[in-house]
Amino acid sequence: MKSFVALSVILLATSASSSTTIPLTKLRGTGAYLKVSPDAGRARAALLKLRTDYEPTTVPATYLGYGSYVTKVGIGKPPTYYNLIIDTGSSNTFCGAGTPYVQTSTSIPTGEAVDVTYGSGGFTGNEYLDQVTLAPNLVIVNQSIGDALSFAGFGIANGILGLGPRDLTLRTLLPDTNVTIPTVMNSLVSQGLIEDQVLGVYFAPPTSDNDTNGALTYGGTDSSLYEGNLTWVPVTKTYPASRFWGVNVTLCTYGNQTVIPTSTAGVVDTGTTQVLLADDFFTVYMNAIPGANKDSNTGLLDIPPSSISYMQPLNFTLADRVFSMDVAAQLVPADQNTAWGGVPGKRYGTVGHLSSNSGQGLDFLLGIKFLERYYSAFDAHGKRVGFAQTKAGPWAVIEGSGFNFAEPEPSKAEAEPGPHITVVVVDSQHDSHDGDSRRHLWITSPSPQAQQYTIHPSQR
Ligand SMILES: *[C@@H]1O[C@H](CO)[C@@H](O)[C@H](O)[C@H]1NC(C)=O
Ligand SMILES: *[C@@H]1O[C@H](CO)[C@@H](O)[C@H](O)[C@H]1NC(C)=O
Ligand SMILES: *[C@@H]1O[C@H](CO)[C@@H](O)[C@H](O)[C@H]1NC(C)=O
Ligand SMILES: *[C@@H]1O[C@H](CO)[C@@H](O)[C@H](O)[C@H]1NC(C)=O
Ligand SMILES: *[C@@H]1O[C@H](CO)[C@@H](O)[C@H](O)[C@H]1NC(C)=O
Ligand SMILES: *[C@@H]1O[C@H](CO)[C@@H](O)[C@H](O)[C@H]1NC(C)=O
Ligand SMILES: *[C@@H]1O[C@H](CO)[C@@H](O)[C@H](O)[C@H]1NC(C)=O
Repeated sequence: MKSFVALSVILLATSASSSTTIPLTKLRGTGAYLKVSPDAGRARAALLKLRTDYEPTTVPATYLGYGSYVTKVGIGKPPTYYNLIIDTGSSNTFCGAGTPYVQTSTSIPTGEAVDVTYGSGGFTGNEYLDQVTLAPNLVIVNQSIGDALSFAGFGIANGILGLGPRDLTLRTLLPDTNVTIPTVMNSLVSQGLIEDQVLGVYFAPPTSDNDTNGALTYGGTDSSLYEGNLTWVPVTKTYPASRFWGVNVTLCTYGNQTVIPTSTAGVVDTGTTQVLLADDFFTVYMNAIPGANKDSNTGLLDIPPSSISYMQPLNFTLADRVFSMDVAAQLVPADQNTAWGGVPGKRYGTVGHLSSNSGQGLDFLLGIKFLERYYSAFDAHGKRVGFAQTKAGPWAVIEGSGFNFAEPEPSKAEAEPGPHITVVVVDSQHDSHDGDSRRHLWITSPSPQAQQYTIHPSQR
C-alpha cells in the first residue's frame, strides 16, 4: 500500500516474533540490572505507597500528521521528550525513531536486544532501563524501554507507548525470548503511582494538522470528557483477539444491511487510524454504498460524492448497546485527502478491510475513527473495555442547499444553527448531483440536540 493510512501498529496476531533480518548492532553493556540500587528502588516504593491521593492524571494527546495520536513522554534524567504513539494494540515502549535516544545517567542497557513486528512496520534495537516521565507526578523509575536502531512505519512519531497487555511483549527480547517485560501501566501500579490499572482515552475529530485535541488519563477515566456512564464490555475469550484489548461485537449494521451477523471478536486499537473489517464484512458494507470501490492507489474506499448524501450510520452493538459511526466518521475529511495518500477532489472512506476473511478470531479493528466518537477505557484488572459518547459529540450531518462558506473547502467558518449554539464546521461536502448545489456540513456541537437543528438561510 502506498499511503501511510493503515498506520496500524497492532502486533499481527500471526506474526512470528523475530521475522526481520535487520542486523543488530553490538550491545553496549551487559549485567545492567546490578547497576540499579535495589535499596533505592525499595525506598521509593515504600514512600510512594504512603500516597493516598490516587487522583487519575490526564495528559494531552496530539493527532500527529492526521495519522496517529501521540503523547509527549520524557525519557532519562533530565528527560528528553519524544512524541510516542498511543498504542493499545502493542505493549513494548520505545523511542529512537526519527530522533535519537538521548542517554543520561539513568539509562542502563539491559544487555538484551529487542525486535517487534507490527501490522505495519517494526523496529529492532537494544533494551534499556530508564526513567520515564508520563506527567510531572508520574515518573517511573527503571522502566524497560527500547532504543530503535532500525525502524519503519512510524511516520513522524518517535516511537510507541505500549498500552496493551504485558503478554504481548513475549518473544520481543533477545536472547531471553521467554520473558515478558512490565509495561508502563504495570510500572505505574507497581511503583505506587496509580491505584487502578485503568487507562482513559479521549480522541476527537481534528480540526487542523497536529491538533492537540485528545487526552490520556492514567489511573482512571476523566468523566468531564464523556457523557453519562461507560458501557463496559468484557475482554473477549476468543483467541487471538483475547491477547489484546479484544471485545465481541454481537451485531454490526449499515443502514438496512447486516455487516456482522453474529458474535464476533475483534480489537480496540488506538494505534490504528481506520476501522478495519474482515473482507467478507467489508464487502457487504462496500456494496451497500452505490458506486463505492477500493481505490488501488491508496487501498482506501473510493466513494462517489453523489452517494454521500445517501450514506447510513455504521452501527456496532457491544454489550447490548449500539455504538454508531455517523456518516462523517466514515469519511476522510476532504481537506485530509493528501495526508491519507489520496488526491484532492475525491472522497475516501475511513472504513477499510483486514485482508483476510472472518472466522479468524480477530475479525475487526476499532481504530481512531471509531474512538473519535466514543471515549474508551481500558481496565486491566476488571478485564474489560468501556465506551461512552465523547463530550464533543455527537456529530450531525446537516444537509441543505446554497450554503455560502468561504472556499477552499472545508471551511472552519462558524455557523449558528440556533440562537445559543455555535458550531464549528469540521468538514463540508459540495455535491452538485441533481443539478442542485448542496453542501453537507459536519459539525461539532456541545449539544446532543444538534441533530435537530437546521441551518436557515439567514444563519448561513
Ligand atoms: C529493574 O527492572 C528489571 C527488569 O524489569 C528488574 O529485573 C530489576 O529487578 C529492576 N530493578 C529495580 C531496582 O527495581
Ligand atoms: C522457556 O520456556 C520453556 C517453555 O515454557 C521452558 O521449558 C524453559 O525452561 C524456559 N527457559 C527459560 C530460560 O526460562
Ligand atoms: C506537525 O508536526 C510535525 C512533527 O513535529 C512537523 O514536522 C510538522 O511540520 C507539523 N505540521 C504542522 C502543520 O505544523
Ligand atoms: C450512571 O450510573 C449511576 C450509578 O449506577 C446511575 O445512578 C446514573 O443514573 C447513571 N447515569 C446515567 C446518565 O445513565
Ligand atoms: C464472545 O463470543 C464468543 C463467540 O464468538 C463466545 O464464545 C464468548 O463467550 C463471547 N464472550 C466473551 C466474553 O468472550
Ligand atoms: C435498503 O436500503 C436501500 C437504500 O436505502 C434501499 O434501496 C433498499 O430498498 C433497502 N432494502 C430493504 C430490504 O429494505
Ligand atoms: C444506527 O444508529 C443510529 C444512531 O444511534 C440510529 O438512529 C439508527 O436507528 C441505528 N440503525 C440501526 C439499524 O440500528
